[in-house]
Amino acid sequence: MFQTMRLVVVSGPTREWIDPVRYISNASSGRTGWELARAGLSRFASVLLISGPGEEQFRALHGAETRRVETTADMAEATAAAIGDDCLLIMAAAPADFRPSNPASSKIKKTQTDMLRLDLAPTTDILRSLIPRASGLQNLIRVGFAAETDNLLEYAAAKMKAKDLDFICANEVFRDQQGFGDRVNTIFLIDRAGNSKTIGPLKKSELAPALLDQIESAMPQLLQRNNS
Ligand code: CTP
Repeated sequence: MFQTMRLVVVSGPTREWIDPVRYISNASSGRTGWELARAGLSRFASVLLISGPGEEQFRALHGAETRRVETTADMAEATAAAIGDDCLLIMAAAPADFRPSNPASSKIKKTQTDMLRLDLAPTTDILRSLIPRASGLQNLIRVGFAAETDNLLEYAAAKMKAKDLDFICANEVFRDQQGFGDRVNTIFLIDRAGNSKTIGPLKKSELAPALLDQIESAMPQLLQRNNS
């Protein structure tokens, strides 16, 4: 079913610079996205991995095209340029939601001030900016992630609706050592109708093919819905 489709996976954190030596980022390693891209190699016509600056080992993948990005704006631009018709987009990235509105061009010295206040401006919500009905694309299937510490299913459902996603993969972070960077995880895969399927706990390398299996089995209905 995936054989004629392209897979675009976006992974890892982004960096938003405060001054030339400091940035805002998060603990995403990029492993989940990398595992999904790897699991897609034997299933899709082509695979593109767009990666932010997570762990270096998860930024290259033999057999896939790769694109390295740094800021959320770079990631948004690379993702918009990569998607098209007959494409599965999986946003496994953890882009920074805010960026310093006036990054300093020289290193900020601690002797300059007693109190440092950072003004932050929102970055682009990448998934929200790529809603297919607005872009006119055919057969673009979009899957998001919701990594939460509380109210997992409630927050995930709200994100799915706000971003008009075909699926959202909800997972808890910072609990039982699962989530960011770790090897074992459980995902609750939620579809538009609100049905939820539990995948795991499994190693991320096993979770990725299991997740693609579930999405693949729903593909005929998804394509039919998106084309009607
Ligand atoms: N995402 C995105 N663009 C952003 C931030 C997030 O496309 N600027 C995507 C993520 O890759 C993920 C989904 O949106 O697939 C949900 O991301 P998450 O960080 O869980 O939620 P946010 O929408 O950023 O909301 P909040 O941080 O308030 O939980």
